Amino acid sequence: MKVLVVDDEVRNAELTALELRDAGHDATFVNGGRAALRKLEQEAFDAVITDIRMAPPDGLELLADIRGRWPDCSVLLMTAYADLDSAVKALRLGAYDFVDKAGDFRAHLVTRLERLAEHRRLTRTVDSLEKGLATIVGDSPAMRGAVELARKVAKTDSTVLLRGESGTGKDLIARAIHYASPRAAGPWIKVNCGALPEALLESELFGHEKGAFTGAVRQKPGRFEDAHKGSIFLDEIGELPLPLQVKLLQVIEEKTFTHVGGNQPIRVDVRIIAATNRNLEEMTRERQFREDLFFRLNLFPITLPPLRERPGDVRPLAELFLERHGLPKDRITPGAMRALEACSFPGNVRELEHMLERAMILAGSEVVDVEHLSFAQMLPVAGAPGGAPAQGPSWLPEIPPEGLSLEVLERGLILRALERARGNKSQAARLLGLTRRTLYSRMERHGLRRPGEDGEAGEDEGDPAGAPPAGSEP
Ligand SMILES: Nc1ncnc2c1ncn2[C@@H]1O[C@H](COP(=O)(O)OP(=O)(O)OP(=O)(O)O)[C@@H](O)[C@H]1O
Ligand SMILES: [Mg+2]
Repeated sequence: MKVLVVDDEVRNAELTALELRDAGHDATFVNGGRAALRKLEQEAFDAVITDIRMAPPDGLELLADIRGRWPDCSVLLMTAYADLDSAVKALRLGAYDFVDKAGDFRAHLVTRLERLAEHRRLTRTVDSLEKGLATIVGDSPAMRGAVELARKVAKTDSTVLLRGESGTGKDLIARAIHYASPRAAGPWIKVNCGALPEALLESELFGHEKGAFTGAVRQKPGRFEDAHKGSIFLDEIGELPLPLQVKLLQVIEEKTFTHVGGNQPIRVDVRIIAATNRNLEEMTRERQFREDLFFRLNLFPITLPPLRERPGDVRPLAELFLERHGLPKDRITPGAMRALEACSFPGNVRELEHMLERAMILAGSEVVDVEHLSFAQMLPVAGAPGGAPAQGPSWLPEIPPEGLSLEVLERGLILRALERARGNKSQAARLLGLTRRTLYSRMERHGLRRPGEDGEAGEDEGDPAGAPPAGSEP
């Protein structure tokens, strides 16, 4: 640790600093409180060790100053026995500890500093745990459950398998687990197992020796070596070719592997986090994925639910994305929010994020409204070859348990199309993928138009006479 020793008995400060240096700390000493403050203004220290009784500012004043201005710096006090009252007061003021300046107190100091180092390491872990997991939005029971599991497993070295559809947040949770783990200060290495052909992936993961293959002009360490003392994220683990699955299993079981073209076993200390949107059970049945590896990976699975199963998370997520773009979270109309909550989002959170990004651009300085949500981009183009996708467009409202009326929905959509088209029926018909004639007949059915009313010329194209004003509609 970087330590500053303060005493106006300079000899004591110096000897203490020397002893701390012997114990491996980076220790500096200064003469008195004023010099200490000057030093602290220039450099950051992990800890200050100060005498209590000094010419002003004395140890307690110095302590109060440090707590206020450099809260990350821990303070230890050296006291004479007579100062016990001050020492107790110091603890109340936020000092980490005090050491009685008698006998072999410098040895005691070294032990206290060791404990302090451990304490600081632990509180930093807690800090980054909060930081890592705080960015994950979602108050649904399913999401809270997943985050709770992540929080628990983060503290261990266990292999984790993140499962869930594309865009559900597997990457995000994987990173959070690493940064919430005791390995947070170590490397975070991510490899997409689906992005490279087998030979390249093998050398990427496990490294190669010089001359292992054409082009291997020098030895190159693999990502597992890069991840030593940290975590490796194996994304799309379902794409890992079978021969590499064998090698991965060996890393998990024996913590060793060999370079491509080498035979020296290399030992690494790496935590593995894997992710997939594939059905690994099915893949093991079809012998595309090794069962033994699957069991090893699946020791601690965390499944992220699709967004459509947690519509309550849509609002906080939408607000997060608005705020990320520097907008207040209420810069969206209630109608637009309801429309989002009704979406089924096959692309999950990523799709919501992209939809909102587009909407914010379209809205410019306006409030994001339904018209900015480019559902149309996901609409199957009426009459296009191939027709509508089998599962329907992503913006379809969920059917509530009590059911809904298709008639009411259709009437509402027709009205909305007429509104958007400012009463221009040809345009409204186009918006709905209907001919004008069909739109008329549906309007009649829904009581939106009297039979035979205006412009029933029979043609399906264009509105030659121009649109009647919207006000003419009931
Ligand atoms: N709960 C959440 N809170 C905040 N942001 C989220 C949440 N879930 C997902 N996101 C965001 O959504 C986007 C997609 O998430 P991520 O990349 O983690 O998904 P994934 O499951 O890894 O998808 P894929 O399988 O396609 O790799 C990211 O920008 C991520 O930050
Ligand atoms: Mg991902």
